[in-house]
Amino acid sequence: MTLAHIFNAKIPELSNPSVCMRDPQRVQEILQSMVKAGSNTVQVISDFDMTLTRFAYNGKRCPTCHNILDNSKLLSNDCKTELKKLLNTYYPIEIDSSRSIEEKLPLMVEWWTKAHELLVQQNIRKDLLAMVVQESDAMLSIPLLIFSAGIGDILEEVIRQAGVFHPNVKVFSNYMDFDESGVLRAFKGELIHIYNKREGALLNTGHFQELRTRPNVLLLGDSLGDLTMADGVEERKQSYLDSYDIVLLKDETLDVPNAIMLYLT
Ligand code: C5P
Ligand code: MG
Repeated sequence: MTLAHIFNAKIPELSNPSVCMRDPQRVQEILQSMVKAGSNTVQVISDFDMTLTRFAYNGKRCPTCHNILDNSKLLSNDCKTELKKLLNTYYPIEIDSSRSIEEKLPLMVEWWTKAHELLVQQNIRKDLLAMVVQESDAMLSIPLLIFSAGIGDILEEVIRQAGVFHPNVKVFSNYMDFDESGVLRAFKGELIHIYNKREGALLNTGHFQELRTRPNVLLLGDSLGDLTMADGVEERKQSYLDSYDIVLLKDETLDVPNAIMLYLT
């Protein structure tokens, strides 16, 4: 099968203008070997914020899990101001392609730790999470193993409300720890931030048991460790092309991953 044949006939979406590949030949080889191995060897692992949820809709930014809380009435104005300050300080660092991951990692841990500490002071009630997600602008673009540095309780509510929390969807994320009266007291387990997903995966060996029989992974993300692909994506394009097999530019759909899954199954 020729490259053109696969691209044009089997997965026409790969000819979408949003699709960029450093090495199309390599992508073809990977997809062919995945098809050959069979669909029972394939699994999907995906990031959540800005990958399964949209970056923007009608020109307006869509929220991350954390932003859903930041914008909600569950937080005091003082807390919102503090979180906004953190966002203004750390988000530019997150998307700064001139800094190395090594340089950014401790700063990201600082951001997540400070933000979670602020949230924990807010007596957030579990029974109100459904409402704030309902009132937010979060939008889903699909369903798998969702590995997110966002907030598990919020993320689950987003996919539940979109009606796609199917039994085959598993989530690794930062989960909230509520006391017996249903008020947020802490975050459970090890902190997941955008640059320690690998360590997180190694801690969750149970979940990855399946990975052994499914070595063919369609991995979806919006970041090199997992940073939001913002308007400045162009300047980061080269490092994305060097790291991801397929890079989608300004593509708010899952047409390409869906087309690949269709091809593989
Ligand atoms: O699901 P994902 O791993 O993408 O979630 C991480 C995202 O959450 C990051 O890209 C980061 O910009 C965002 N974040 C946030 N507020 C925080 C911490 C992280 O919006 N306090
Ligand atoms: Mg993301």
